[in-house]
Amino acid sequence: MKILGIESSCDETAAAVVEDGVKILSSSVNSQIMEHRKFGGVVPEIASRRHTENIISVVQDALGQAGLSLGEIDGIAVTAAPGLIGALLVGVNFAKGLCLATGKPLIPVHHIRGHIAANYLAHPELKPPYLCLVVSGGHSHLVEVLDYTSFHVVGRTRDDAAGEAFDKAARAMGFPYPGGVILDKEAQRGNPHAYRLPQPKVDGSPYDFSFSGLKTAVINLVHNAAQKGEALNAQDLAASFQFTVAEILTNRFLLAARDLRYNILAVAGGVSANSGLREMLREKCLQENRQIYFPPLSLCGDNAAMIASQGFYEYRAGVQAGMELNASPSMPIDGCQWNSILPASM
Ligand code: KG4
Ligand code: ZN
Repeated sequence: MKILGIESSCDETAAAVVEDGVKILSSSVNSQIMEHRKFGGVVPEIASRRHTENIISVVQDALGQAGLSLGEIDGIAVTAAPGLIGALLVGVNFAKGLCLATGKPLIPVHHIRGHIAANYLAHPELKPPYLCLVVSGGHSHLVEVLDYTSFHVVGRTRDDAAGEAFDKAARAMGFPYPGGVILDKEAQRGNPHAYRLPQPKVDGSPYDFSFSGLKTAVINLVHNAAQKGEALNAQDLAASFQFTVAEILTNRFLLAARDLRYNILAVAGGVSANSGLREMLREKCLQENRQIYFPPLSLCGDNAAMIASQGFYEYRAGVQAGMELNASPSMPIDGCQWNSILPASM
């Protein structure tokens, strides 16, 4: 079954064709990062306009790369939640238009479920159940993946998402938006033990994380040094911050794995590209004899192949939407309520 995936939840306009949830036939991503960099973050209004301008060529590119016409596609999967509402609406309405014109099934996909599915594209042997650490720009969750469309959240951030913490710390260190990937590069040349940074715990919730105290500690360090006219070593600070975030995430993730008895683990979302996190998790999983999966770097960030993959599993589970489908800026990963789920037989 060939699914066309469409993604426009933030600052990437993307389309892809994936066969049977695991085989990428094409993937096209148009990133707006350079435009938003001028403003230090994503400007929702600009994002929506660029999606509108770029979506036709991105979808045409994905079909062209796959060597397929729209008629040869079996279903159209689109990110319908969560994300920037104006940005989501561009993809959702475009997908609705395509489905109206062709009679193909319209499949709504939860963006974070898509990030998790990125792992199936690279590791077809990975099958639920397993425990997944989801770390993106807007979300940080520890999720039991019970089945391809059945999830149970066991831990979450109480404040900033991991990617948000990376971006804010990076900004304080003077790196341009989006700072996470630049901080990662700088950290590779720094000493991770140069600065002692706090690891806030969440009382009574052993699998929850909190990053705002850590972020504030970095911002205060930078400001205090500037006030005293002292020089900070940005590479050492980046390495220390990255090491601390990696420890917070790794400790919670492995504690949950031990308690809930998961030997198969996966990581998903933009921050799964982080070299420090990958290294620490690989090392600890090797010691504890657990198997860990990461998406390839090309599929860690937002893309439509992951949406097409998850769309396949959603459709197989009977999820299909009608023309009333709306986008939603927020929606729990373990309680997707599309406002127009049709019975699978329709
Ligand atoms: O999953 P994603 O592409 O978008 C959302 O769904 O939010 O995640 C984007 C986030 C940004 O905060 C970005 O700075 C962060 O992922 N990120 C990284 C790295 N690459 C991307 N953070 C740390 N290290 C990286 N190598
Ligand atoms: Zn994302």
